[in-house]
Amino acid sequence: MTNTDIDYSRHLLGIEHLSREELYNYLDNATHFLEVSERDLKKVPALRGKTVVNLFLEPSTRTRTSFEIAGKRLSADTINMTASGSSVSKGETLLDTARTIAAMNPDVLVIRHRASGAAHFLASRLENTAVINAGDGMHEHPTQALLDLLTLRQHFKDRSGGIEGLRVAIVGDIRHSRVARSNIMAHLLLGNKVRLVGPSTLIPDLLVKENCFGEPLQVFYRLEEGIEGCDVIMLLRMQLERSAGGFIPSLEEYAREYCLTSKIVERYAGDAVVMHPGPINRGIEISGELADSPRSLIEKQVTSGVAVRMAVLFKLATASGEEKRE
Ligand code: CP
Repeated sequence: MTNTDIDYSRHLLGIEHLSREELYNYLDNATHFLEVSERDLKKVPALRGKTVVNLFLEPSTRTRTSFEIAGKRLSADTINMTASGSSVSKGETLLDTARTIAAMNPDVLVIRHRASGAAHFLASRLENTAVINAGDGMHEHPTQALLDLLTLRQHFKDRSGGIEGLRVAIVGDIRHSRVARSNIMAHLLLGNKVRLVGPSTLIPDLLVKENCFGEPLQVFYRLEEGIEGCDVIMLLRMQLERSAGGFIPSLEEYAREYCLTSKIVERYAGDAVVMHPGPINRGIEISGELADSPRSLIEKQVTSGVAVRMAVLFKLATASGEEKRE
């Protein structure tokens, strides 16, 4: 089986494979699950009898915890595995690990892996298990883009046009960011204007000159110009574990040019909201006072994460995604 044989409707491997309708369908269901998460009893029987395995072979706080909470709130049996607590630490390959898990017949396998394409690799080889990409290398992080859109949809619910027609600046380590890739595709799908902002070394030519998203992306190397007049400013973490440090003179120098503060936002994008997928590096990408200010949607993004992951598990663990969700 090759990637071309994958039935993308059975998995969530990337925003790349979603239509606008499918994207809104996830957001509609997630809006319902936001309400479930506010109830006293935050549990519905929607996935009773279903099994979800969370296989996290790279560190994670937000994504791993929220997939676990999401599964439990839907009454699924959830099992969590990490590299250090599994036979991966004894040298077992990804495919052997996944086949072993699949032999126990789970309904969904959630995978985070350092290799771009890991989720596709598993989806092309597992017959009866839906695969959810929880972040693969520098490729995609689709549930992050969906939760970012849900957060914006809640914030802009009274705006005419909702989350369409927005000007979005994505700032920082775009080169290494799966969050950037998934968000760029999601915003382009909605017809939003996307700007990439950062040092030239962290904005790969492939994204710009070769126009691999099929839409023009504006590029700015100065923070103030890049955010000017924007509705949304999305900051990205400097991914030192993926050698981002080798693309900048020093973190201090990066922070001097690109660390966003309330003062800069107020001057150049007075109406903008600020987002960050986390984990944040205070004083590098964002000042502490801006991260904690009313303009920051960072905590709301985390809350949206549970609801979005409930919506994704619900759709993929049920044949049609139309079963009773109450
Ligand atoms: N945003 C995000 O993926 O965070 P974690 O690495 O903590 O899951």
